[in-house]
Amino acid sequence: MAKKTATIVGQGYVGLPLAQAAARAGWTVHGLDVTESLVDMLNEGHSHVDDLSDADIQEMQSLGYRATTDPSVIANSDVVVVCVPTPLGAGGSPDLGAVKGASRTVGDNLVSGTTVILESTTYPGTTEDVVKPILEMASGLAAGADFQLAYSPERVDPGSKKFGIKNTPKLMGGIDDASTQAAVAFYGTFVDQPVPMDGMREAETAKLLENTFRHVNIALVNEMSKFCKELNIDIWEVIRGASTKPFGFMKFMPGPGVGGHCIPIDPNYLSYEVRNQLGYPFRFVELAQEINNSMPRYVVDRVGALLNEHRKPLNGSSVLLLGITYKADIADQRESPAIPVAEVLRERGADVRFHDPLVDSWKVDGTEIAREQDLDQAVRDADVVVILQAHDSYDLERLAAASKIMLDTRGTAPKPAVLL
Ligand SMILES: NC(=O)c1ccc[n+]([C@@H]2O[C@H](COP(=O)([O-])OP(=O)(O)OC[C@H]3O[C@@H](n4cnc5c(N)ncnc54)[C@H](O)[C@@H]3O)[C@@H](O)[C@H]2O)c1
Repeated sequence: MAKKTATIVGQGYVGLPLAQAAARAGWTVHGLDVTESLVDMLNEGHSHVDDLSDADIQEMQSLGYRATTDPSVIANSDVVVVCVPTPLGAGGSPDLGAVKGASRTVGDNLVSGTTVILESTTYPGTTEDVVKPILEMASGLAAGADFQLAYSPERVDPGSKKFGIKNTPKLMGGIDDASTQAAVAFYGTFVDQPVPMDGMREAETAKLLENTFRHVNIALVNEMSKFCKELNIDIWEVIRGASTKPFGFMKFMPGPGVGGHCIPIDPNYLSYEVRNQLGYPFRFVELAQEINNSMPRYVVDRVGALLNEHRKPLNGSSVLLLGITYKADIADQRESPAIPVAEVLRERGADVRFHDPLVDSWKVDGTEIAREQDLDQAVRDADVVVILQAHDSYDLERLAAASKIMLDTRGTAPKPAVLL
């Protein structure tokens, strides 16, 4: 049987691992992207995402993968999957510019019989009300009759050694049964458990429920961490105890705030649409945002209080931030709460330094900060060391023992570190 062809539109954190999975499953894969420098880099055999190495890209190439900026590859594809960014625009509203642009590109090159799938996280109704009309207008074809259309949210857990594309069940909802089945047929070649859904809106909303659930539960423990501190109750021990319950409880940890491309952004897509269509707020999301956004300032307040116990002002003290990415053991800095922590520290006159094994230099308020070269020396020199991300490579016992004061926002460092 001839090899089937898939075009993955957007070769970022989501599209590139998907291209790898499809290539390994025997698809001829085109990685279509608008960023020429990225396409060149990929074709030279270099990866730009944490979960794929250069060797992975070279293996993909040996399986027929090519990155390209040429949209004509769409006309030769059995399946086209759109994985472009869905950021927030002015005033926190959804910015569907990339989804619309990619839909036009796909529509301009679409031929009858193709399956088009949207993976970008977005508000309910986007596939049907935004993507479908653009595809139909640009191609002159009809969804359902001439081409299949489905929504299938990405569930990647960056850096996870346990869950990847293969063993994470994947939702897919089509505009009709044939579209759902076409999506199942595609993903079924490399996903153990495709989960067909009754509709595209339900598949879109399921993704937003997953992320909102996480956002709200992180806010819950963050709020509890603040008042437990005042009540002299150890929140980390509270969570350790509660999580021994084998049913009806799921563990979430406090921290310096939420980061990454999903949690701080996706729930806004849902709350925006609820307000837009129904005129009332999605109160859980708004409350979770308020609490999670307050955490960077709370971390700085705690740093100030710890210095105060040592009769030192925050103004003029050196504060070393360890781990500035949004998640442990990955290099992704998107929406990392380390930025507002550093900004507030600077506002209050602190001398901010940083170390992260995965980041060479860091921009705060438009100015570059170079990474401390000698970690042990930097820890000894700093007035306060703050663990924002407990990367695996940090020997927290040694670092805690060497610091004058250590505040650990992740609850993993041993005494004499102080936990958030
Ligand atoms: N990163 C994650 O962990 C994650 C997890 C689940 C869902 N998502 C969702 O997946 C989508 C993609 O996220 P990402 O993290 O891969 O983004 P990304 O920024 O890493 O990559 C997106 C890529 O799309 C390209 N692009 C933009 N407009 C384009 C166009 N019109 N045509 C072709 N290429 C275009 C960009 O050049 C970029 O390379 C978003 O909706 C995001 O919310 C991301």
